[in-house]
Amino acid sequence: MSQDLPKRRQIYEGKAKVLFEGPEPGTLVQYFKDDTTAFNAEKHEVMDGKGVLNLRISEYIFAELEKDGVPTHFIETLGPREQLVREAEIIPLEVVMRNVAAGSLVKRLGLSEGETLPRPLIEFYYKDDALGDPLISEDHIAVFGWCSAEELDEITGLARKINKRMSALFEAAGIRLVDFKLEFGRVQDGGAQRIVLADEISPDSCRLWDMQSNEKMDKDRFRQDLGGMVDAYQQVAARLGLTSDI
Ligand code: TMP
Repeated sequence: MSQDLPKRRQIYEGKAKVLFEGPEPGTLVQYFKDDTTAFNAEKHEVMDGKGVLNLRISEYIFAELEKDGVPTHFIETLGPREQLVREAEIIPLEVVMRNVAAGSLVKRLGLSEGETLPRPLIEFYYKDDALGDPLISEDHIAVFGWCSAEELDEITGLARKINKRMSALFEAAGIRLVDFKLEFGRVQDGGAQRIVLADEISPDSCRLWDMQSNEKMDKDRFRQDLGGMVDAYQQVAARLGLTSDI
């Protein structure tokens, strides 16, 4: 599958996406690559077709969240790998919501994978690849000024709301939303500044388990060498009703 890059000025290249200058000031083009990484890019492979699937799944989820009143950076889809988005000043936090014990939570606290948590758990990680995105507390955020108390309240409320909406969307597709990661940014609206959901929401940034079999349908297939990662993403898209135009 072609990964032709847009003929625009490149602003930033991440592990799974590239950002280009947009057609208007205050906009960017977000391009989804097939590159797949884990363990802070120690493990890397190009997975044919992953970028197209992630764009489609992310676009759908962002649109559903917008309908539910969650402000996002998404403006429109420009091509199979390209989205027009609002330029946002990214807050350096990875906001993780967890419904079921898995991943680093299991390792850190010695839980059994698959235990349903008493209630959804929100965690904050400092977004810094060189440091390996360390887990932090709310007080770290306040002391180091990564965002204001008001912004953190807003982010926490949005993350809980997003969890409710996404859990329902996936449940209707026979998929358990185990956990996921969000990123937020600040955009200028007239004179005012507001928080929007940014980045992407896809099987790269979520744990998704089939509700019948508990089979993993997310990037853990790559992290744990289970195979069939792109097929699983395709299955997620199909279950969400997104097959016709992929
Ligand atoms: P964790 O259990 O490894 O901390 O991951 C929690 C969730 O966050 C999981 O759904 C995968 C997602 N995630 C990312 O999107 N990017 C990352 O760099 C990491 C470590 C996790």
